[in-house]
Amino acid sequence: MEFPFDINQIFTERISVLDQNLVAGRWTATRPDLQANLATVIDELGKASAKAQQLTAAVTSASKLQTQRHQLYLLKDGESSSGRGAAVGFLKVGHKKLFLLDRQGVHVEAEPLCVLDFYIAENLQRHGYGLELFDFMLQHKSVEPGRMAYDRPSPKLLSFLEKHYSLTQNVPQVNNFVVFEDFFFNRAAVQ
Ligand code: ACO
Repeated sequence: MEFPFDINQIFTERISVLDQNLVAGRWTATRPDLQANLATVIDELGKASAKAQQLTAAVTSASKLQTQRHQLYLLKDGESSSGRGAAVGFLKVGHKKLFLLDRQGVHVEAEPLCVLDFYIAENLQRHGYGLELFDFMLQHKSVEPGRMAYDRPSPKLLSFLEKHYSLTQNVPQVNNFVVFEDFFFNRAAVQ
């Protein structure tokens, strides 16, 4: 996704980790103009993600990120747009308190790391960018994909999880979250 400003000036790393402070590179904390552009990038990606999932409202925006304790991993392509760079996509995660059912139907209360929103620009899907972002997040958070919960996953995300992480056996829930069998394995040892 291209913008009429320099993406490389806002995001100095290939993958930036953003939280409620909305600070990416060295300068965004002290330059209101860069902060405004950063907010535009998040808002536009959030809208595109909602459209791709046929949601009526965006789950991700700069103002939402500022008020929620979530983390957003943003992937850029620094070389495109004649060197100005482009936003490739994002992955948003956060902890949620959930009441889940295990395979036997027993209630389990947990506060796992959840995938809350995930989007790769339309023309760049199926090129491995989603995997690059997801793997980065797994390392950054030191978490296994089977230990996470997925908020209303789209068919594309379910296919992605099956292909890259062999996650196929989901355990039926009464809420919008999807968890897999690994989630309940040795649960007592997991937070
Ligand atoms: N149809 C079916 N499966 C797809 C598609 C598609 N159009 N696109 C990606 N996938 C899955 C497939 O398993 C694919 O493997 P295959 O090509 O061998 O079939 C695999 O993802 C490809 O892996 P990557 O290239 O690493 O994934 P990508 O960069 O496309 O990112 C993502 C995956 C984020 C799901 C992307 O396709 C996307 O943005 N989709 C639209 C938005 C969306 O559905 N987001 C998830 C919302 S749910 C949530 O966030 C909790």
